Amino acid sequence: MAVTVGIDRISFYTPPFYLPMATLAKARGIDPDKLHIGLGQRDMAVLPPDESVVTMAAHAAEAILDDDNKAQIDTVLFATESGVDQSKAAGIFVHHLLDLPKNCRVLELKQACYSATAAIQMAVALIHQQPDRKILVIASDVARYGLQSAGEPSQGCGSVALLLSANPAILAIEPYSGYYTQDVMDFWRPNYRDEALVEGKYSCQIYLQALAESWDHYCAQSKRQWRDHDIFLYHTPFPRLAEKAHQALCKHVGLTSSSSEETHAGLDLALQYSRTIGNCYTGSLYLSLASLLDHQSADLSGQRVGLYSYGSGCVAEFFSGILQPGYQAHLLTAHHRAILKDRKALSINEYEQFYRFHSQQHDNVDTPHISHGRYRFAGVDDHKPQYQRQKSPSGVKVVSASAPGKLILSGEHAVVHGAPALVIAVERYTKATVSSASDQKLSFHLPDVGHIGSETFHKLHRLKTRLQEAHGKFRRGERGISDIIQKPFELLQYTAANALDKFATPDDQGFHIHTESNLPIGCGMGSSAASIISANYAIAHYLGKTIDDKTQYQLGLRAENLQHGYSSGIDLHVAIHGGCHLFQNGQSTVQNMPADTNFYIVNTGAPDANTGQCVTHSRQCFQQQPDLLEKFVEVTQSIAYALQSANQAQLIASVRLNHRLLVEIGVVPAPIQQFIKQIEEVGGAAKVCGAGSVKGEKAGIVWLIGDDQALQTVAHQHGFSIETLHSDYDGVKLI
Ligand code: CAA
Repeated sequence: MAVTVGIDRISFYTPPFYLPMATLAKARGIDPDKLHIGLGQRDMAVLPPDESVVTMAAHAAEAILDDDNKAQIDTVLFATESGVDQSKAAGIFVHHLLDLPKNCRVLELKQACYSATAAIQMAVALIHQQPDRKILVIASDVARYGLQSAGEPSQGCGSVALLLSANPAILAIEPYSGYYTQDVMDFWRPNYRDEALVEGKYSCQIYLQALAESWDHYCAQSKRQWRDHDIFLYHTPFPRLAEKAHQALCKHVGLTSSSSEETHAGLDLALQYSRTIGNCYTGSLYLSLASLLDHQSADLSGQRVGLYSYGSGCVAEFFSGILQPGYQAHLLTAHHRAILKDRKALSINEYEQFYRFHSQQHDNVDTPHISHGRYRFAGVDDHKPQYQRQKSPSGVKVVSASAPGKLILSGEHAVVHGAPALVIAVERYTKATVSSASDQKLSFHLPDVGHIGSETFHKLHRLKTRLQEAHGKFRRGERGISDIIQKPFELLQYTAANALDKFATPDDQGFHIHTESNLPIGCGMGSSAASIISANYAIAHYLGKTIDDKTQYQLGLRAENLQHGYSSGIDLHVAIHGGCHLFQNGQSTVQNMPADTNFYIVNTGAPDANTGQCVTHSRQCFQQQPDLLEKFVEVTQSIAYALQSANQAQLIASVRLNHRLLVEIGVVPAPIQQFIKQIEEVGGAAKVCGAGSVKGEKAGIVWLIGDDQALQTVAHQHGFSIETLHSDYDGVKLI
């Protein structure tokens, strides 16, 4: 009896991050229907900095290997068009990571998205030669067209691993293929580029033309016809093109639309994974196979699958396989679903940072710990890529804490000089997550300040010393406040270095710190205090230490002073405790929550001057006009009383007065004064909440009081949109 050869096991892997198409559409000003309907795409997978085609391949292959089948593998064929080296096969790194037998040959195959099919056909031939061998075929790719390019929505990444053997459990590959080659420039990537170049519409046209050509050749070779097939699968750069391919093939063979629709149901199941992963080039046809088998509950045993493989440039192949009896018992459906379920949706900023990280790679780079899989790309050392196998990815310790932002309702600036300020925590947070890392470094992923990087403890200590010395110079009047922190992410690096010193951390452990926030940065809502407090809290709990409120405050104050010169501590206090407070000289009197816990605000944009510069400026005003401070004290008490007693008339009068005092100390830019004047003209009141600005046209957050409709109209005229903030009782906490 002739030996059957084909796919014995199949699995895929895609990284734990994706970008929803709705997010991309919004950021690029595209109608989301164009991506959802026009391309058939819902999300696309995004490669984090510490993954590559190698780690994705190792993750995909690991799932289908055990000690027995590993020992029989004598060939690894790595199909990719996003190779990591011009000479060495990426599969050799995978061979090492997976501990494959040393008597094994490993090579890389390239012909755009077609090469995995070539690898399968080579494997089939080799197994016919020696049926007791197994061959591992891995298709692994990252589709990159460039930020804001036409191809951007059709990116994605992932790996599909296939174990080929005699008497396969899943799909027996049949003899007879149809091939087609034509020298075209529809999609290509010159050696000097890391992004593909593409003639988008032309590529779709050639893809469809090559389908007809390879199908005709296949029919001639195999003597089979359309009706001999039960299911059709197509290379899927984006799902809509696979649907179009099916329609085109139906038309090519002269089918009526009703009979083509019958097969279409199967195709829809085959496209489920692609809709959420995007293009993974060489793997995408086989991702469709996995998707069909994982989603089709009916037993398809014995059915013939027609497969269309296409690689730009171009080479196409049409071939077929028979689904084997009992194949369902060998699928990894639950594993695949778990991979997709555990992914995190990225914001557009995070996606762009991940994207750029891979564009900027060069020698001597350490990658931060972003993903927590078993295999990671640790960076490049002396031109050598470093791949690591983590001991126990499931045992990665992760601690997360969140701290709220705040609105200063009255008394900002005056609070620095010992007057009280009225402050309230709001339901906007910064979340810090600390997790273990395998190397002895501290890595940071701080999307809100656009930073991804990794530092040795030694380097962080040097940064800490430099920043403290710079602050000393500021205190002695030898340096301006904006000359201390030179890059926004240094604040969190300093915070981490300080906390690790405080808790006497052994420097043979590595850590990864990730922060994310829905607080606007630098707009007076306490985003830096919330980052500092949540990071310190997460670090302390990660290390198993208790951190009391006083220690948190003191650690936080050191960091905030670097940014603000002399911090009043008010933001830190609210981030620690939540609630509503009258805050004075580092002490607070807790206030009842106002009856109305909703606050209307507009964000006028990040001020051109930082808090330190504004505080330095207002200090002079307070020195020149000693009675100013007392006026701030009175207005703050009046606002506090009006809120507690729900006295709207007093609230409006007091907020107007407060605004005038802020104008007097020079922290309300002219356009914002004009905006507030109009709010007052419609019977309302408004004031800057936070430091304001001593230059430019923006002042961060402005608090508005008055009739909804009237406020909306004025805000609209100035191009602002009103948001409602809710107050929050909770301070920093583990989540
Ligand atoms: N609602 C619904 N549909 C809408 C819409 C809306 N508001 N707005 C537009 N559409 C539809 C369009 O009508 C169009 O559909 P049809 O093609 O059926 O007419 C579809 O959305 C896409 O619109 P455009 O053609 O205007 O889109 P575009 O110019 O932005 O480019 C693309 C789309 C060519 C696919 C581009 O993303 C691209 O170049 N991608 C990379 C190249 C690629 O994937 N080529 C595939 C063949 S090559 C290959 O297979 C190898 C490989 O893997 C790369």
